[in-house]
Amino acid sequence: MAVLAISIGGSIILQEKKEVDYLNKLAKLLISQSKRNKLFIVVGGGKLARTYIKFARDLGADEAFLDDIGIASTRLNARLLIAALDGHAYPKPAKDFDEAWIASKSHSIVVMGGTHPGHTTDAVAAMLGERVGADRFINATAVDGVYSADPNKTPDAKKFKKLTPQKLLELTVTTEHKAGPHVVIDPLAARIIQRSGIPTYVVLGSDLKALREAFAGKAAAGTLIK
Ligand code: UTP
Repeated sequence: MAVLAISIGGSIILQEKKEVDYLNKLAKLLISQSKRNKLFIVVGGGKLARTYIKFARDLGADEAFLDDIGIASTRLNARLLIAALDGHAYPKPAKDFDEAWIASKSHSIVVMGGTHPGHTTDAVAAMLGERVGADRFINATAVDGVYSADPNKTPDAKKFKKLTPQKLLELTVTTEHKAGPHVVIDPLAARIIQRSGIPTYVVLGSDLKALREAFAGKAAAGTLIK
């Protein structure tokens, strides 16, 4: 049995037009994986978070308040995934790592959202992975791997098949300055990956084949950080 920490981007949970179909397939894959492995899943806020944060920012809310709105969005998306998992997961989003750990004693799938203001769910998933002694950290995101620059803005950006944690850290710091908030992994997550040494797989979350490979410890379609 392997212990897997999984970050699922909010944009993967709520994809335009095909939410239900995709969520059902994703849930099926997660349930099948949970027969052999312990799954600790952290869900992102995606469009829901962005919509609410923008609205509240326009109303004049401060940044910490906006983070709390983001966290509430991640927890709502976590509930959607729990619904799709149809009784196979701990029935509510764990609030913190202690609750996730306790929940894992009775359920092979535990889902949570964000925890504290100031970081993203990638960092939460990396910390949770460290806390539960995960064998692998899988980041199911909107990009099919880690690139030398934002591939949507830089057409000749190079995709890495393999990276050291140190190189990832350097990349997250430099690309963040250029690319704004949409970096594939946030710098705090990169720091946790480096200090914990957990092998990390970055894959396109909408590609269930790539996700299945990452669960099995292969990174054929994405980026392996080790
Ligand atoms: P996400 O983790 O979804 O961030 O949290 P993101 O990078 O914007 O999302 P993706 O990867 O593009 O889907 C949404 C927001 O919620 C707040 C932050 O404001 C974050 O931008 N948040 C989330 C926190 O403040 N703390 C947390 O632990 C998690």
